[in-house]
Amino acid sequence: MSAVPRLASAVLAVLAPALLSACEQQSMETQPKLKTYSTAAAFPDNAVAREIPFGTVSRNEPARIAALADRPPVDEALLRRGREQYEIYCTPCHGLAGHGDGIIVQRGFPQPPSYMEPRLLSADSQHFVDVITHGWGVMYPYAARVEPRDRWAIAAYIRALQVSQTGAPRDVAAAIPANGAQGTPEAGDDDAPSSNREGAR
Ligand code: HEC
Repeated sequence: MSAVPRLASAVLAVLAPALLSACEQQSMETQPKLKTYSTAAAFPDNAVAREIPFGTVSRNEPARIAALADRPPVDEALLRRGREQYEIYCTPCHGLAGHGDGIIVQRGFPQPPSYMEPRLLSADSQHFVDVITHGWGVMYPYAARVEPRDRWAIAAYIRALQVSQTGAPRDVAAAIPANGAQGTPEAGDDDAPSSNREGAR
């Protein structure tokens, strides 16, 4: 062994315990760190939780926005899907029949307008899709939760709710295919969308 490596190993032998004890003092559990809701003087607003910069979009958002242009034809399958998705995401505030009397509203959330309002009866389905996508007033957007095609399905189901409550009997007749009762609910069918089960409680 030459003199230099011998010196190096001697220095290491002296320093090693010191280095090790430094590690012991700072375990990963107790290391200095910023917690989400604490304050940090490093930022102008003094908050650790940083706001997402304006205009940020998640990586798959452009594809989802593009998919919205694909307006599916309204058929029974789309309406059934729309009803399912409506009852999951919209009923808590808008109510099963669309009167804006959902359970969250009964607990104090601002009341949405009824879908039977003349302005919403004459609104294009695109408007419902836009409200789901971007939110409206105090209603926050559902773009992250409701798939683009499902937004169209929900819009179609809202239309069905409107017709079922404001339409003349001939509108209902016109909606039934000429070849028979395909897709019309049986009497007493639990699937029938007409009853407001929530209101009955
Ligand atoms: C947490 C409660 C809540 C949920 C859930 C909710 N909304 Fe709303 N919605 C509101 C409120 C409140 C308003 C009225 C907002 C305002 O005018 O400031 C509203 C308004 C609307 C309007 C009317 C917009 C206009 O032109 O006046 C439509 C359409 C609508 N919501 C559709 C939906 C659909 C579809 C869903 C389900 C995907 C949904 N909402 C889920 C609370 C909710």
